[in-house]
Amino acid sequence: MSAKPKPITGDVRVALVGCGRISRNHLDAIARTEGLTLVSVADTDRTRAEAVGAEQGVPTFVALDEMLEAVPSDLVAVCTPSGLHPEHGIVAARRGRHVLTEKPMAISLEAADELVQACDAAGVHLFVVKQNRLNPPIQLLKRAVDKGRFGRLYMANVTVRWTRPQEYYDAEPWRGTWEFDGGAIMNQASHYVDLMQWLVGPVETVMAKTATQARRIEAEDSGVAVMRFRSGALGVLEVNVLTYPRNLEGSITLLGEKGSVKIGGTAVNRVDHWAFADYDDDDKLVDAASTNPPTVYGFGHEGYYRNVLAVLRGEAKPDTDGRAGRKSLELILGIYESAKTGREVPIPMRTRV
Ligand SMILES: NC(=O)c1ccc[n+]([C@@H]2O[C@H](COP(=O)([O-])OP(=O)(O)OC[C@H]3O[C@@H](n4cnc5c(N)ncnc54)[C@H](O)[C@@H]3O)[C@@H](O)[C@H]2O)c1
Repeated sequence: MSAKPKPITGDVRVALVGCGRISRNHLDAIARTEGLTLVSVADTDRTRAEAVGAEQGVPTFVALDEMLEAVPSDLVAVCTPSGLHPEHGIVAARRGRHVLTEKPMAISLEAADELVQACDAAGVHLFVVKQNRLNPPIQLLKRAVDKGRFGRLYMANVTVRWTRPQEYYDAEPWRGTWEFDGGAIMNQASHYVDLMQWLVGPVETVMAKTATQARRIEAEDSGVAVMRFRSGALGVLEVNVLTYPRNLEGSITLLGEKGSVKIGGTAVNRVDHWAFADYDDDDKLVDAASTNPPTVYGFGHEGYYRNVLAVLRGEAKPDTDGRAGRKSLELILGIYESAKTGREVPIPMRTRV
């Protein structure tokens, strides 16, 4: 970042672009967080923008740039289709706004880098939403890893067995396209790919197979990958959005020398297994850590915004900034590259995609 942004002392004024499905989590989180105020919303679908604007009592716009020109704000929440995050983040940064983008931050490394650079040049923060990191069971697991409770980590597994019917894709033309979305790995499983590298460490190589078996979309509805981590651990990823008849599992399992943990549920929200050779006071928190979120998006947006607010007030470091977001994007793109070429792909990738 070119210069450290000045801390904001009053309320942080949030403008939101993209009033679709995930915007509800943002609106609720903003409403529940003291110190955040929604000031305007925009969506190219005027009806959608107006419905949200009327509900929230804020002015509505169809174009992001017009909104930023007309209404002063500190932070722009980007909730548009994934392929548009860099473009919208860059518009906001150039107008001096901090940027909070939904995941994935971009669908190519080139666009991700442009967004990071634009935020750096403007001296604004870039936040990338990774709310699953904040799930209480995942926070406990992260602490166990950081304390070295597993000893050597041998094996990591993530499994995403979810259901996305054809109507989900048909409802919005961008879904499942290579230009704006990607498939099950880039969209639905992106949090899980992120958890792999956040919890286990950098991936050295990845091999993958993907398939479009049942949904009429450009990108994949199923995929598997195996990876070797720099630490020597091995990893397996299994992703599917064709699970009959509803979401079955969203889990991560770590197996180490002195510990085994599985965090399961439909969205890494429940401790299914927790065993360590050595006692730690955190073990007492395991039973209380499981949650029952209403959707697989979970409760994490509120916690995420609390960190954003603390960062903007100069009191904390970002949970996930642009550089952290880029790391998990690179692994997703490595998986795609391997599936496309049939080769093992080193991370960082030698070719830029
Ligand atoms: N964090 C999570 O768990 C999570 C969950 C779901 C979706 N997401 C991410 O959120 C993003 C949006 O997903 P969604 O399911 O809400 O999609 P959606 O299609 O329901 O909503 C996107 C909205 O953006 C609007 N839009 C499109 N182009 C625009 C433009 N140029 N300017 C202004 N508005 C525009 C659309 O009209 C639509 O209302 C995606 O990147 C997705 O990956 C994240």
